Amino acid sequence: MKHIAILGSTGSIGKNALSVVETHAAEFKVVGLAAKRDVDTLEHQIRRYRPALVAVNEPTAAGRLRARIRDINGTQVLAGSEGLQAVATMPQASQVLDGMGGSAGLLPTLAAINAGKDIAFVNKEVMVMAGALVNAAVKANGVNLIPIDGEMSAIFQCLEGTRDPQADIHRLLITASGGPFREIPKAELYSVTPEQALQHPNWKMGQKITIDSATMMNKGLEVIEAKWLFNIELSKIDIVVHPESIVHSMVEWADGSTLAQLGPTDMRIMIQYALTYPRRLSAPVPRLDLQEARTLHFEPVDFEKFPCLSLAYTAADVGGTLPVVLSSADEVVVEAFLNTDIGFMDIPAILGHVMDKHAVVGEPTLTDILEADRWAKSTARSVIKNHTKTTISH
Ligand SMILES: NC(=O)c1ccc[n+]([C@@H]2O[C@H](COP(=O)([O-])OP(=O)(O)OC[C@H]3O[C@@H](n4cnc5c(N)ncnc54)[C@H](OP(=O)(O)O)[C@@H]3O)[C@@H](O)[C@H]2O)c1
Repeated sequence: MKHIAILGSTGSIGKNALSVVETHAAEFKVVGLAAKRDVDTLEHQIRRYRPALVAVNEPTAAGRLRARIRDINGTQVLAGSEGLQAVATMPQASQVLDGMGGSAGLLPTLAAINAGKDIAFVNKEVMVMAGALVNAAVKANGVNLIPIDGEMSAIFQCLEGTRDPQADIHRLLITASGGPFREIPKAELYSVTPEQALQHPNWKMGQKITIDSATMMNKGLEVIEAKWLFNIELSKIDIVVHPESIVHSMVEWADGSTLAQLGPTDMRIMIQYALTYPRRLSAPVPRLDLQEARTLHFEPVDFEKFPCLSLAYTAADVGGTLPVVLSSADEVVVEAFLNTDIGFMDIPAILGHVMDKHAVVGEPTLTDILEADRWAKSTARSVIKNHTKTTISH
């Protein structure tokens, strides 16, 4: 039986991971959980899975949770970043699923790797911020880093058994649904609301990644993530829009053959594979029925309509701390859009502005990365404060 700790257990990925655990109760034991503040969901999860350790980032929420589970023996609740680190490194866990999302996942992920844990990995922001450091830590500690993110899992699966990926790969093709605004003209994007942007056509996910899908920043972050995960040059990574989200991504080989991974739009499949790798167990998800009349469409991405993509390619190309600034400022800017403080097309405008202001540090240390994260968030906040909301195209 594998013992796992789940960071971000109250979120979309965390709940899907617990559903996988439930399906294969004889395979897994949940020993640790962590979240930011959702005490209601954590209480329910503690009563159901009886983990030894639970971390709640917000200290007041941790206090409330302790009071609620006074009747339960054997579960300790810790608060703040120390609590997160404790769950990420707990001796009872052999694998840590990082389903937190955002820069808050960086230190716990590195701590888990350095504690020798295998990682089921979905937090693309961590790889974007610190891909070189994560890869070095994975190598030094001899652990497995298995992607969950649909596109990364697809490429990981296509690459299995490849002897010399560098020589054999012609390019990676990351598929994109195109998000809710694929068919809307650019001029109309200035006035779209958070409610419209949160209507993803194919996937039900947390708010941050759903807005990133609408701006296509999500694809930009995945390009950077793929560069580090698969140790591949940027020039060999392309995006193709595939509105049906059935092909999760592809690898085109040097000989012109292309391998694709297909499946239903259900994250439990990728989560389960990361937890059982290299085994495949049955999964109670709807099957892909290709005998049903179906057409798969593919089309190029529109860089002009979705400027976040070019920002991400620039960040990846320049490297150093610029991807940190892109990703960390994006967290702040997406939140401002959700709060209706800025318009949809202000997202790339503000991000571009913050990136322009940044003095890039090449080959950053962890300290440089944490400083760039702090700088990017505070600069984004001050740019937003002085920004006039744009709701029409000029
Ligand atoms: N959802 C998907 O289907 C999907 C698909 C591909 C990739 N991903 C990636 O998976 C990651 C998570 O996405 P999601 O959609 O699951 O997000 P989500 O639904 O917003 O969940 C985020 C989780 O992280 C916790 N969290 C956030 N900040 C924290 C902090 N500072 N300390 C401790 N816990 C914290 C949240 O706790 P609270 O609930 O208490 O706030 C919640 O449990 C992202 O990197 C995303 O890009 C997600």
